[in-house]
Amino acid sequence: MKRILITGALGQIGSELTLSLRETYGKDKVIATDIRKPDHEVATEGPFEILDVMDQKRMSQLVSTHRVDTIIHLAALLSAKAELNPLFAWNLNMSGLLNVLETAKEFKTKFFAPSSIGAFGPTTPKNATPQNTIQRPTTMYGINKLTGELLADYYFRRYGVDCRGLRFPGLISYKTQPGGGTTDYAVEMYHEAVKHRRYTSYIKKGTYLDMMYMPDALAAIIQLMEADGTQLKNRNAYNVTAMSLDPEKLAQSIRREIPEFRLDYKIDSVRQQIADSWPNQLDASCAKEEWGFKPTFTLDRMTKEMIKNIM
Ligand code: SER
Repeated sequence: MKRILITGALGQIGSELTLSLRETYGKDKVIATDIRKPDHEVATEGPFEILDVMDQKRMSQLVSTHRVDTIIHLAALLSAKAELNPLFAWNLNMSGLLNVLETAKEFKTKFFAPSSIGAFGPTTPKNATPQNTIQRPTTMYGINKLTGELLADYYFRRYGVDCRGLRFPGLISYKTQPGGGTTDYAVEMYHEAVKHRRYTSYIKKGTYLDMMYMPDALAAIIQLMEADGTQLKNRNAYNVTAMSLDPEKLAQSIRREIPEFRLDYKIDSVRQQIADSWPNQLDASCAKEEWGFKPTFTLDRMTKEMIKNIM
């Protein structure tokens, strides 16, 4: 990766990945793009361009002008939001992805897009979910993510585009709040624990989902993109995870820092149904074997950092 263009650079992953890539590869080597330009360091402290991922012509122009060799495609609608407006989600998530894949093909760039635990469904084995297994997602987001995995494989096989991807679990960070996801409760719980010493979870007790701390997710993206392509058998997309949590387990970890923290429940049926259709805990062994994935944050270490930084 020498000159990287990021779509959705102001989103949950993008706002942190942009800064981390600029640190590693140099400020002028990372072109952040998004549909709006706010007063955020992603937009003010390095190259930034307005880009609607539905506009392929502009995307091509930017890739050509900036002599981009890698496109990291992050612009997408998350699971709960996609369920509220499925048709819009399909149009944005799929047209955006195809425009990026076409651009990558035209300019022979590398390509990265995140998939998700959402690419699995209720008939997928719930525990130690294998890399290659049943994928019959029941959410629009999951259908988008699975289609994305297949399309990226197709562009690799058919056109030789160097496509790579990760199936991310819920990502947790104190820097940027996610928006419209199902795993967002975990991030909200930390913020509410610090501010109000209590949280009302919209996800039921006993609902286990994979999670990972953002620095591990950023490191995984860079590591996968820098990996020797000949070693990648499952390039689109690798299971990655650092921990499997339910609201109670997260609350227990928070109570080790804030003993009076109280957790209540008020279930949101849309997000609960989404969570129920996803695995409890992925098997990330292919990522470990093929390119050395190694998350470093345990639950308690993440909790300590989250609370310290939110305070
Ligand atoms: N964090 C995402 C969501 O909840 C999962 O990919 O939608």
